[in-house]
Amino acid sequence: MDWNAALYRKSHGFVAEYGKNLLACVPEDAAQCILDFGCGTGELTAALAGKAGQVVGVDQSAAMIRAARETYPGPEYHVLDAAGLAAQGWTARFDLVFSNAVFHWIQDQETLLRALHAVLKPDGLLVCEFGAQGNVAAVCAAFASALATRGRTRADPFYFPTPAAYRQKLETAGFQVRYIEDYDRPTPLSGGENGLALWLEQFFAEDLAGFEHTEQMNIFREVVCALRPRLWDGERWIADYRRLRLLAVRN
Ligand code: BEZ
Repeated sequence: MDWNAALYRKSHGFVAEYGKNLLACVPEDAAQCILDFGCGTGELTAALAGKAGQVVGVDQSAAMIRAARETYPGPEYHVLDAAGLAAQGWTARFDLVFSNAVFHWIQDQETLLRALHAVLKPDGLLVCEFGAQGNVAAVCAAFASALATRGRTRADPFYFPTPAAYRQKLETAGFQVRYIEDYDRPTPLSGGENGLALWLEQFFAEDLAGFEHTEQMNIFREVVCALRPRLWDGERWIADYRRLRLLAVRN
């Protein structure tokens, strides 16, 4: 899937804002080389550059990488997904892999973890955060229901594991888990009344692409109506995010 980088930066800057909190888990060391996996528009890649001698940002979206290169030209960037990363031949190149809000988009976790294990040096650190079990469950259910009334089913594209399930995957892939925990992170959306529709437009673009503009507006109205009692606080939409944060060392 390619992304609308302009909408992402304008309305979903909170993704990088929350990611700044994860940066506190990254040690400062001018000698280290960091990979930002799924770097998006580059905000956190640029911040990582202040903590390391070398930073490489990769993202599967060419639009995101274009935006990152324009706005934060310092780091090296590449358009790559997990399979592409594995094909780069960057064996044991990185001291640390950082990733914020990306792993839940990837179904093939085995290929992902194999690729990250290969590019990390022995004892290298994986620092990441993504959606945990139950993440945006109310939003997904309301959206699925709006599609169902139109005779469409939604192939759930997300992987939102429990800490126990993900610990197992990490250990099988050759990582030692230092820390793993899930937590609720109710997340205010930008855009006031339109915040939820903007979120759907950004993140469910593929499902929405099959509908005419007027029908998309009808879907937004239905989802907004269904979720207002639960997720509208009178001023903002508060999405029901849940996060899994982990630190793991490559064996
Ligand atoms: C997330 O960051 O948790 C997320 C973003 C878009 C869709 C689903 C989840």
